[in-house]
Amino acid sequence: MLDQYKRKIDYMRISVTDRCNLRCRYCMPADGIEQMACKDLLSYEEILRLCRIFAQLGIKKIKLTGGEPLVRLGICHLIQQIKQINGIEQVTITTNGVLLPQMAEELIKTGIDGINISLDTLQRDKFLELTRRDQLADVLAGIERLMELGYKNIKINCVPIMEINGNQIAGIVGLAKKYPLVVRFIELMPIGNITGYTAIHRDFIMETLQNRYGELVPYQSSLGNGPASYFSLPKFKGKIGFIDAIHHKFCEACNRVRLTSNGFMKLCLQYNVGVDLKEMLRSDADDAYVKQVIKKNIYKKPLEHHFYDESVAQIRDERNMFQVGG
Ligand code: GTP
Ligand code: 5AD
Ligand code: SF4
Repeated sequence: MLDQYKRKIDYMRISVTDRCNLRCRYCMPADGIEQMACKDLLSYEEILRLCRIFAQLGIKKIKLTGGEPLVRLGICHLIQQIKQINGIEQVTITTNGVLLPQMAEELIKTGIDGINISLDTLQRDKFLELTRRDQLADVLAGIERLMELGYKNIKINCVPIMEINGNQIAGIVGLAKKYPLVVRFIELMPIGNITGYTAIHRDFIMETLQNRYGELVPYQSSLGNGPASYFSLPKFKGKIGFIDAIHHKFCEACNRVRLTSNGFMKLCLQYNVGVDLKEMLRSDADDAYVKQVIKKNIYKKPLEHHFYDESVAQIRDERNMFQVGG
């Protein structure tokens, strides 16, 4: 369907849980979060009902996120069921990779169309410092496992932050030299706890990479459903990508809505605008009514984000990344 600015909305990000097995400093407090009561979490039946309704409205691609989506029991079965819905063409997942060594095989068997892995550093001590867990080896073993199984559509998401991985950019890009996967740099956004962190600009990263690996050549083909722009490097098996929501604003091409794990349909990453679908699902509302409400709301999707524009800061969403799923 189209929103009021004639953008085609065909992609939905569903956060299936706000729980996570890591505690990344920019995302979660050290002691974790106050756990959402089970009754507030959408059940798989509710998620599937919504997916069917969204598919009728023209959603073709579903991204499962968290928290950490692989910690929710039965996630692979959910993926299989979403994939069977008429009109859904792709189901992908964004994970921190910690559970991939034991889950890669089952995950691939679901027919999942893409696996994105969040990984900011390849240094064990830095990984521990950032995520507060000593589990870099698990993530790397997970990537290795996907490779052994011949899985093709893998993206590594790295948030470049001066104080954390500023001197390791070339290193993490080495993953795309060694393996046929995409390494993407995601510009730090003012969501969560980013005090004391300095985002690294794309130009600096590009210069670092060109000095080390040679010329970055823009790659025209689309490599996903997201806002990234892609490049290739000489002698690399994989590609490099950038998602800079601040410096290369891509709102005019935005194709997505989000569903939080407690059933709030969120229309833009920055704002608290949307609608609580959980209460509606749990009332006697029939599918036709839910569909109509969703349609009316998607139509009102905001034009663009205003991160760092203080004059519109009051409508900023207080939800954190683990609640929204990126
Ligand atoms: P694919 O390439 O198809 O896998 O999609 P994707 O890039 O949207 O997926 P992913 O979950 O890996 O998203 C990467 C990160 O990009 C997210 O975690 C967000 O931080 C950022 N991002 C994704 N969508 C948006 C968006 O609509 N607005 C902004 N500002 N950032 C986004
Ligand atoms: N800015 C940019 N990306 C972020 N992520 C979490 N918090 C932020 C932020 N403030 C990223 C994670 C993961 C994805 C789901 O979102 O590193 O790759
Ligand atoms: Fe977990 Fe992702 Fe948040 Fe890190 S960024 S704590 S992996 S939800």
